[in-house]
Amino acid sequence: MFQINDNYQKLPGSYLFSTIAKKVAAFSEANPDKSIIRLGIGDVTQPIAPAIIEAMHHAVDEMADAKTFRGYAPDLGYEFLRKAISDHDYKARGCDISADEIFVSDGAKSDSGNIQEIFSTENRIAVCDPVYPVYVDSNVMAGRTGTYDASTGMWSNVIYMPCTRENGFVPEFPKETPDMIYLCFPNNPTGTTITKAQLQEWVDYANKVGAVIFYDGAYEAYISETDVAHSIYECEGAKTCAIELKSFSKNAGFTGVRLGYTVVPKELKCGDVSLHGMWARRHGTKFNGAPYIIQRAGEAVYSEAGKAQLKEQVAYYMKNARTIKSGLKEAGFEVYGGVNAPYIWLKTPDQMTSWEFFDYLLENANVVGTPGSGFGPSGEGYFRLTAFGSYENTVAALERIKTL
Ligand SMILES: Cc1ncc(COP(=O)(O)O)c(C=O)c1O
Repeated sequence: MFQINDNYQKLPGSYLFSTIAKKVAAFSEANPDKSIIRLGIGDVTQPIAPAIIEAMHHAVDEMADAKTFRGYAPDLGYEFLRKAISDHDYKARGCDISADEIFVSDGAKSDSGNIQEIFSTENRIAVCDPVYPVYVDSNVMAGRTGTYDASTGMWSNVIYMPCTRENGFVPEFPKETPDMIYLCFPNNPTGTTITKAQLQEWVDYANKVGAVIFYDGAYEAYISETDVAHSIYECEGAKTCAIELKSFSKNAGFTGVRLGYTVVPKELKCGDVSLHGMWARRHGTKFNGAPYIIQRAGEAVYSEAGKAQLKEQVAYYMKNARTIKSGLKEAGFEVYGGVNAPYIWLKTPDQMTSWEFFDYLLENANVVGTPGSGFGPSGEGYFRLTAFGSYENTVAALERIKTL
């Protein structure tokens, strides 16, 4: 009789977005006259920029002609895209990352879930709390965690680093020493970030204790402050301790198009073993490359026209972020984030739990957000609103919230 991977049995159901959907559906059914504004899920709403669409059309036409048709893509990515990434995201910022240290993929979710595979299951992971759930769940599946305690919302054998208003949402070095550290800045869900100097401390710490950092920079395009690093490789010594994960989803609206990349520097080693070589082996075996058409779309992200159009798109969402943040402040809420990220993290009023506030907002303002407790125990008492809606809806939602 076959056996299953029992680790999957340990996972509690992922109820967050399905519970939200059910609650919203029930409310809608009971109140068909009410128009609901959704500022919950972190998905973009603006269409793909014209320069990128044009590049995609061109690539589609190439596929229709035997002379320009492309079959399997190189599994590590086309050189034209890897070079564009290396030039624009790294060399232009003074980071010495070459094209062959970049692995093109179908997005940061897969990479952040898969990267743990090349590490021992004996390693201990450290995560921020609250956190993007993929980091923990993928380690649960691999058997790197202990058991789940439903009363605390925590796994044994996982090091949690609370990020709350008390520590300014900056993780502190844990008491126990981790082997694998997950960091995401600017952060989902809190919308806050850390300075380059603070990130440097993490790089120094990882190099000192012999840990690897997985640095998720999915929201890098939203950085507006000058003392925030756009890449972990801006920090001295990062090439010997850090893997960086990037996505085209939030900077270019590729959530449905699918494209991302991971940087594994050649200097990153465990003894004599190169992690770059291991990830190349893994990619070569299990991944057959992102589609040519999509990689051409990715290349257009770095064209002059693409860059200008995407700057406008990011500005559009960040105008929403400012609208939410200032509106909430006016309404007397305590708010965080929204300066270097498209998320606003608010403290729930009157000691309400995250879910109590969810219900309150849905019923009284007909606005949907995401309960902070869904991202980890330290998210309890907080609530996330996203800036990814339309400007009109964002303004309307805040008008409603202000009248509560
Ligand atoms: C922190 C973080 N990393 C990664 C992702 C997923 O990115 P992608 O769409 O490239 O898979 C998300 C999506 O919400 C995210 O919030």
